[in-house]
Amino acid sequence: MSDAAITVEEARKTYGGRKDGPALDGLDLTVARGTVHAVLGPNGAGKTTLVRILATLLRPDAGRVEVAGHDVVREAYAVRLRIGLLGQHAALDEELGGRQNLELFGRLHHLGARRARARADELLERFELSRTGHKAVKQYSGGMRRRLDLAASLITEPEVLFLDEPTTGLDPRGRAEVWDSVRSLVGGGTTVLLTTQYLEEADQLAHRISLVDVGRVVADGTADELKAALGGDRIDVVLRDAGHLGAAVALLPVPKDAVTVDTDRRLLSAPVADRMAALAGVVRALQDAGIEAEDIALRRPTLDEVFLHLTGGDDRVKEAA
Ligand SMILES: Nc1ncnc2c1ncn2[C@@H]1O[C@H](COP(=O)(O)OP(=O)(O)OP(=O)(O)O)[C@@H](O)[C@H]1O
Ligand SMILES: [Mg+2]
Repeated sequence: MSDAAITVEEARKTYGGRKDGPALDGLDLTVARGTVHAVLGPNGAGKTTLVRILATLLRPDAGRVEVAGHDVVREAYAVRLRIGLLGQHAALDEELGGRQNLELFGRLHHLGARRARARADELLERFELSRTGHKAVKQYSGGMRRRLDLAASLITEPEVLFLDEPTTGLDPRGRAEVWDSVRSLVGGGTTVLLTTQYLEEADQLAHRISLVDVGRVVADGTADELKAALGGDRIDVVLRDAGHLGAAVALLPVPKDAVTVDTDRRLLSAPVADRMAALAGVVRALQDAGIEAEDIALRRPTLDEVFLHLTGGDDRVKEAA
Protein backbone atom coordinates (compact mmCIF):
# COMPACT_ATOMS: atom_id res chain seq x y z
CA MET A 1 0.00 0.00 0.00
CA SER A 2 1.17 3.49 -0.75
CA ASP A 3 2.11 5.85 2.08
CA ALA A 4 -0.31 8.42 0.75
CA ALA A 5 -3.85 8.50 2.12
CA ILE A 6 -4.80 11.12 -0.46
CA THR A 7 -3.33 11.68 -3.91
CA VAL A 8 -4.58 14.39 -6.23
CA GLU A 9 -2.90 14.94 -9.56
CA GLU A 10 -3.90 17.74 -11.92
CA ALA A 11 -7.51 17.81 -10.73
CA ARG A 12 -9.80 20.02 -12.79
CA LYS A 13 -13.40 21.07 -12.28
CA THR A 14 -15.50 23.72 -13.96
CA TYR A 15 -19.10 24.08 -12.83
CA GLY A 16 -21.59 23.85 -15.66
CA GLY A 17 -22.29 27.12 -17.44
CA ARG A 18 -19.71 29.10 -15.51
CA LYS A 19 -17.89 31.82 -17.36
CA ASP A 20 -15.59 32.85 -14.49
CA GLY A 21 -13.29 29.92 -15.20
CA PRO A 22 -12.55 26.68 -13.40
CA ALA A 23 -13.07 26.07 -9.65
CA LEU A 24 -10.14 23.62 -9.71
CA ASP A 25 -7.43 24.36 -12.21
CA GLY A 26 -4.87 21.54 -12.15
CA LEU A 27 -4.66 21.04 -8.40
CA ASP A 28 -1.99 18.70 -6.95
CA LEU A 29 -1.94 17.35 -3.42
CA THR A 30 -0.42 14.44 -1.50
CA VAL A 31 -1.33 13.66 2.10
CA ALA A 32 0.65 11.07 4.04
CA ARG A 33 -1.24 8.51 6.14
CA GLY A 34 -1.87 9.48 9.76
CA THR A 35 -1.12 13.17 9.24
CA VAL A 36 -3.20 16.36 9.33
CA HIS A 37 -3.06 18.38 6.14
CA ALA A 38 -4.54 21.87 5.90
CA VAL A 39 -5.82 23.38 2.67
CA LEU A 40 -5.65 27.09 3.32
CA GLY A 41 -7.28 29.61 1.02
CA PRO A 42 -9.64 32.58 0.72
CA ASN A 43 -13.35 32.49 -0.20
CA GLY A 44 -13.86 30.89 -3.58
CA ALA A 45 -10.39 29.32 -3.75
CA GLY A 46 -11.89 25.90 -4.45
CA LYS A 47 -11.62 24.30 -1.00
CA THR A 48 -15.17 22.94 -0.80
CA THR A 49 -15.00 21.81 -4.42
CA LEU A 50 -11.88 19.80 -3.57
CA VAL A 51 -13.49 18.28 -0.47
CA ARG A 52 -16.62 17.34 -2.42
CA ILE A 53 -14.51 15.60 -5.04
CA LEU A 54 -12.47 13.75 -2.42
CA ALA A 55 -15.68 12.68 -0.67
CA THR A 56 -17.14 11.40 -4.02
CA LEU A 57 -19.99 13.93 -3.94
CA LEU A 58 -18.75 15.60 -7.12
CA ARG A 59 -16.85 14.20 -10.10
CA PRO A 60 -13.66 15.87 -11.29
CA ASP A 61 -13.62 16.80 -15.02
CA ALA A 62 -10.05 15.53 -15.29
CA GLY A 63 -7.11 14.38 -13.19
CA ARG A 64 -6.37 11.46 -10.91
CA VAL A 65 -7.87 11.50 -7.43
CA GLU A 66 -7.34 8.66 -4.95
CA VAL A 67 -8.44 8.36 -1.34
CA ALA A 68 -7.39 5.49 0.93
CA GLY A 69 -5.97 3.69 -2.08
CA HIS A 70 -9.11 3.91 -4.24
CA ASP A 71 -10.05 6.03 -7.22
CA VAL A 72 -12.88 8.45 -6.34
CA VAL A 73 -14.61 8.00 -9.71
CA ARG A 74 -14.14 4.32 -10.54
CA GLU A 75 -14.24 3.05 -6.94
CA ALA A 76 -16.49 5.60 -5.30
CA TYR A 77 -18.20 3.04 -3.09
CA ALA A 78 -14.91 1.72 -1.69
CA VAL A 79 -13.89 5.31 -0.95
CA ARG A 80 -17.19 6.04 0.81
CA LEU A 81 -16.68 3.10 3.17
CA ARG A 82 -13.39 4.58 4.33
CA ILE A 83 -14.11 8.28 4.79
CA GLY A 84 -15.89 10.68 7.12
CA LEU A 85 -17.01 14.18 6.20
CA LEU A 86 -17.67 17.26 8.25
CA GLY A 87 -19.31 19.66 5.83
CA GLN A 88 -19.06 23.44 5.89
CA HIS A 89 -22.70 23.47 7.05
CA ALA A 90 -23.85 21.19 9.81
CA ALA A 91 -26.10 18.21 9.16
CA LEU A 92 -27.60 17.77 12.63
CA ASP A 93 -31.26 17.51 13.60
CA GLU A 94 -31.88 20.52 15.86
CA GLU A 95 -34.85 18.99 17.66
CA LEU A 96 -33.10 15.76 18.61
CA GLY A 97 -30.62 15.34 21.44
CA GLY A 98 -26.91 14.89 20.83
CA ARG A 99 -27.02 11.19 21.66
CA GLN A 100 -30.10 10.66 19.45
CA ASN A 101 -28.36 12.41 16.56
CA LEU A 102 -25.36 10.12 16.85
CA GLU A 103 -27.51 7.00 17.13
CA LEU A 104 -29.44 8.07 14.06
CA PHE A 105 -26.20 8.54 12.13
CA GLY A 106 -25.08 5.11 13.25
CA ARG A 107 -28.32 3.52 12.05
CA LEU A 108 -28.05 5.40 8.73
CA HIS A 109 -24.63 3.81 8.39
CA HIS A 110 -26.12 0.36 8.94
CA LEU A 111 -24.97 -0.20 12.51
CA GLY A 112 -27.31 -2.38 14.59
CA ALA A 113 -29.27 -0.63 17.37
CA ARG A 114 -26.98 -1.83 20.13
CA ARG A 115 -23.79 -1.02 18.24
CA ALA A 116 -25.13 2.44 17.29
CA ARG A 117 -25.91 3.20 20.94
CA ALA A 118 -22.49 2.01 22.12
CA ARG A 119 -20.73 4.03 19.45
CA ALA A 120 -22.75 7.15 20.33
CA ASP A 121 -21.75 6.82 23.99
CA GLU A 122 -18.12 6.28 23.08
CA LEU A 123 -18.04 9.39 20.90
CA LEU A 124 -19.93 11.58 23.38
CA GLU A 125 -17.37 10.61 25.97
CA ARG A 126 -14.47 11.29 23.66
CA PHE A 127 -15.70 14.79 22.76
CA GLU A 128 -16.75 15.60 26.32
CA LEU A 129 -20.43 15.76 25.45
CA SER A 130 -21.69 12.93 27.69
CA ARG A 131 -23.34 15.25 30.18
CA THR A 132 -25.20 17.24 27.53
CA GLY A 133 -25.97 14.23 25.32
CA HIS A 134 -29.65 14.27 26.29
CA LYS A 135 -30.18 17.97 25.44
CA ALA A 136 -31.68 19.05 22.13
CA VAL A 137 -29.03 20.29 19.72
CA LYS A 138 -30.76 23.67 19.38
CA GLN A 139 -29.61 24.36 22.94
CA TYR A 140 -25.94 23.68 22.13
CA SER A 141 -23.26 26.35 21.83
CA GLY A 142 -21.46 26.70 18.48
CA GLY A 143 -18.43 24.81 19.80
CA MET A 144 -20.58 21.96 21.15
CA ARG A 145 -22.42 21.65 17.84
CA ARG A 146 -19.20 21.44 15.90
CA ARG A 147 -17.86 18.78 18.28
CA LEU A 148 -21.07 16.81 17.84
CA ASP A 149 -20.69 17.21 14.07
CA LEU A 150 -17.18 15.88 14.37
CA ALA A 151 -18.42 12.94 16.44
CA ALA A 152 -21.04 12.19 13.75
CA SER A 153 -18.39 12.18 11.03
CA LEU A 154 -16.48 9.55 13.02
CA ILE A 155 -19.36 7.10 13.48
CA THR A 156 -17.89 4.66 10.97
CA GLU A 157 -14.29 4.95 12.22
CA PRO A 158 -13.05 6.39 8.92
CA GLU A 159 -9.47 6.04 7.72
CA VAL A 160 -9.63 9.49 6.17
CA LEU A 161 -11.60 12.40 7.56
CA PHE A 162 -12.47 15.61 5.68
CA LEU A 163 -13.23 18.74 7.69
CA ASP A 164 -14.48 21.68 5.63
CA GLU A 165 -13.84 24.87 7.63
CA PRO A 166 -14.45 23.17 10.99
CA THR A 167 -14.21 26.36 13.06
CA THR A 168 -15.59 29.13 10.85
CA GLY A 169 -18.10 31.14 12.87
CA LEU A 170 -16.89 29.91 16.27
CA ASP A 171 -15.60 32.17 19.03
CA PRO A 172 -12.01 31.63 20.25
CA ARG A 173 -13.13 29.22 22.96
CA GLY A 174 -15.23 27.11 20.60
CA ARG A 175 -12.33 27.10 18.17
CA ALA A 176 -9.90 25.88 20.84
CA GLU A 177 -12.33 23.06 21.78
CA VAL A 178 -12.56 21.88 18.19
CA TRP A 179 -8.79 22.09 17.80
CA ASP A 180 -8.35 19.82 20.83
CA SER A 181 -10.79 17.34 19.35
CA VAL A 182 -8.97 17.29 16.02
CA ARG A 183 -5.63 16.81 17.75
CA SER A 184 -6.99 13.82 19.65
CA LEU A 185 -7.91 12.11 16.38
CA VAL A 186 -4.45 11.99 14.99
CA GLY A 187 -3.02 9.70 17.66
CA GLY A 188 -5.60 7.13 16.57
CA GLY A 189 -4.08 7.00 13.08
CA THR A 190 -6.84 8.87 11.23
CA THR A 191 -5.67 10.96 8.30
CA VAL A 192 -7.29 14.40 8.38
CA LEU A 193 -7.65 16.89 5.54
CA LEU A 194 -9.08 20.16 6.77
CA THR A 195 -9.83 23.37 4.94
CA THR A 196 -9.54 26.74 6.59
CA GLN A 197 -9.21 30.45 5.96
CA TYR A 198 -7.15 30.91 9.11
CA LEU A 199 -3.40 30.73 8.99
CA GLU A 200 -3.36 30.19 12.74
CA GLU A 201 -5.63 27.16 12.49
CA ALA A 202 -3.41 25.55 9.89
CA ASP A 203 -0.42 26.46 12.03
CA GLN A 204 -1.92 24.86 15.15
CA LEU A 205 -3.19 21.64 13.66
CA ALA A 206 -1.49 20.69 10.44
CA HIS A 207 1.72 18.84 9.73
CA ARG A 208 1.67 20.29 6.24
CA ILE A 209 -0.23 23.09 4.55
CA SER A 210 -1.23 23.67 0.94
CA LEU A 211 -2.03 27.26 0.08
CA VAL A 212 -4.75 27.26 -2.53
CA ASP A 213 -5.78 30.16 -4.71
CA VAL A 214 -8.04 30.18 -7.77
CA GLY A 215 -8.15 26.41 -7.90
CA ARG A 216 -4.46 25.63 -7.68
CA VAL A 217 -1.81 25.10 -5.03
CA VAL A 218 0.42 28.17 -4.92
CA ALA A 219 2.70 26.84 -2.18
CA ASP A 220 2.97 23.94 0.22
CA GLY A 221 5.12 22.93 3.12
CA THR A 222 5.17 23.03 6.90
CA ALA A 223 3.93 26.20 8.61
CA ASP A 224 7.51 27.18 9.37
CA GLU A 225 8.59 26.69 5.77
CA LEU A 226 5.74 28.89 4.51
CA LYS A 227 6.46 31.64 7.00
CA ALA A 228 10.15 31.48 6.25
CA ALA A 229 9.28 32.07 2.59
CA LEU A 230 7.74 35.35 3.73
CA GLY A 231 10.74 36.32 5.82
CA GLY A 232 9.31 35.27 9.21
CA ASP A 233 8.06 37.94 11.59
CA ARG A 234 7.29 41.53 10.70
CA ILE A 235 7.72 44.89 12.34
CA ASP A 236 5.04 47.59 11.98
CA VAL A 237 5.86 51.23 12.69
CA VAL A 238 3.17 53.95 12.79
CA LEU A 239 4.68 57.44 12.57
CA ARG A 240 3.19 60.57 14.05
CA ASP A 241 3.95 62.54 10.88
CA ALA A 242 3.48 61.09 7.38
CA GLY A 243 6.15 63.52 6.17
CA HIS A 244 8.80 61.32 7.80
CA LEU A 245 7.80 58.09 6.03
CA GLY A 246 10.53 58.36 3.40
CA ALA A 247 13.27 59.01 5.93
CA ALA A 248 12.03 56.20 8.19
CA VAL A 249 12.08 53.62 5.36
CA ALA A 250 15.83 54.16 5.06
CA LEU A 251 16.28 53.44 8.77
CA LEU A 252 14.70 49.99 8.72
CA PRO A 253 17.16 47.06 8.75
CA VAL A 254 15.92 45.60 5.45
CA PRO A 255 16.27 46.44 1.74
CA LYS A 256 14.00 49.32 0.71
CA ASP A 257 11.86 47.25 -1.63
CA ALA A 258 10.93 44.85 1.22
CA VAL A 259 9.18 47.67 3.10
CA THR A 260 5.45 48.27 2.55
CA VAL A 261 4.32 51.86 3.02
CA ASP A 262 0.71 52.83 3.77
CA THR A 263 0.65 56.62 3.63
CA ASP A 264 -2.95 57.04 4.83
CA ARG A 265 -2.24 55.09 8.02
CA ARG A 266 1.33 56.51 8.31
CA LEU A 267 2.42 52.87 8.53
CA LEU A 268 5.63 51.10 7.54
CA SER A 269 5.82 47.31 7.61
CA ALA A 270 8.87 45.13 7.00
CA PRO A 271 9.95 41.51 7.49
CA VAL A 272 12.58 40.98 10.19
CA ALA A 273 14.93 38.08 10.83
CA ASP A 274 15.79 38.73 14.49
CA ARG A 275 12.75 40.14 16.31
CA MET A 276 14.32 41.72 19.36
CA ALA A 277 17.37 43.08 17.57
CA ALA A 278 15.12 44.64 14.93
CA LEU A 279 12.85 46.22 17.53
CA ALA A 280 15.75 47.66 19.52
CA GLY A 281 17.49 48.83 16.34
CA VAL A 282 14.42 50.58 14.96
CA VAL A 283 13.64 52.35 18.24
CA ARG A 284 17.21 53.62 18.46
CA ALA A 285 17.43 54.68 14.83
CA LEU A 286 14.13 56.60 15.01
CA GLN A 287 15.24 58.32 18.22
CA ASP A 288 18.59 59.29 16.73
CA ALA A 289 16.87 60.71 13.67
CA GLY A 290 14.33 62.58 15.83
CA ILE A 291 11.37 60.81 14.19
CA GLU A 292 8.41 60.20 16.47
CA ALA A 293 6.55 56.90 16.34
CA GLU A 294 3.00 56.49 17.56
CA ASP A 295 3.20 52.71 17.67
CA ILE A 296 5.80 50.00 17.05
CA ALA A 297 4.88 46.33 17.04
CA LEU A 298 6.27 42.91 16.16
CA ARG A 299 3.88 40.41 14.69
CA ARG A 300 3.58 37.28 12.55
CA PRO A 301 2.65 37.59 8.90
CA THR A 302 -1.06 37.53 8.14
CA LEU A 303 -2.75 35.27 5.64
CA ASP A 304 -3.21 38.30 3.37
CA GLU A 305 0.51 38.87 3.32
CA VAL A 306 1.34 35.25 2.62
CA PHE A 307 -1.06 35.39 -0.30
CA LEU A 308 0.05 38.75 -1.56
CA HIS A 309 3.61 37.57 -1.44
CA LEU A 310 2.92 34.30 -3.23
CA THR A 311 0.61 35.72 -5.85
CA GLY A 312 2.69 38.79 -6.61
CA GLY A 313 0.33 41.38 -5.14
CA ASP A 314 -2.70 40.40 -7.18
CA ASP A 315 -5.58 42.82 -6.30
CA ARG A 316 -8.24 40.15 -6.57
CA VAL A 317 -6.57 38.14 -3.83
CA LYS A 318 -6.38 41.16 -1.59
CA GLU A 319 -10.13 41.58 -1.88
CA ALA A 320 -10.84 37.91 -1.31
CA ALA A 321 -8.48 37.28 1.59
N1 LIG B 1 -22.48 24.60 -7.22
C1 LIG B 1 -21.76 25.54 -7.84
N2 LIG B 1 -22.13 26.05 -9.05
C2 LIG B 1 -21.40 27.00 -9.68
N3 LIG B 1 -20.26 27.52 -9.17
C3 LIG B 1 -19.83 27.08 -7.99
C4 LIG B 1 -20.57 26.08 -7.25
N4 LIG B 1 -19.90 25.84 -6.09
C5 LIG B 1 -18.82 26.65 -6.10
N5 LIG B 1 -18.76 27.39 -7.23
C6 LIG B 1 -17.70 28.35 -7.60
O1 LIG B 1 -16.47 27.66 -7.65
C7 LIG B 1 -15.43 28.41 -7.06
C8 LIG B 1 -14.83 27.65 -5.89
O2 LIG B 1 -15.84 27.54 -4.88
P1 LIG B 1 -15.63 26.74 -3.53
O3 LIG B 1 -16.96 26.69 -2.85
O4 LIG B 1 -14.97 25.45 -3.82
O5 LIG B 1 -14.63 27.71 -2.74
P2 LIG B 1 -14.21 27.69 -1.21
O6 LIG B 1 -12.74 27.79 -1.20
O7 LIG B 1 -14.83 26.53 -0.51
O8 LIG B 1 -14.82 29.05 -0.64
P3 LIG B 1 -15.39 29.40 0.83
O9 LIG B 1 -14.19 29.71 1.68
O10 LIG B 1 -16.22 30.61 0.60
O11 LIG B 1 -16.17 28.24 1.33
C9 LIG B 1 -16.05 29.74 -6.67
O12 LIG B 1 -15.79 30.66 -7.69
C10 LIG B 1 -17.53 29.43 -6.56
O13 LIG B 1 -18.29 30.58 -6.87
MG1 LIG C 1 -16.07 26.33 1.09
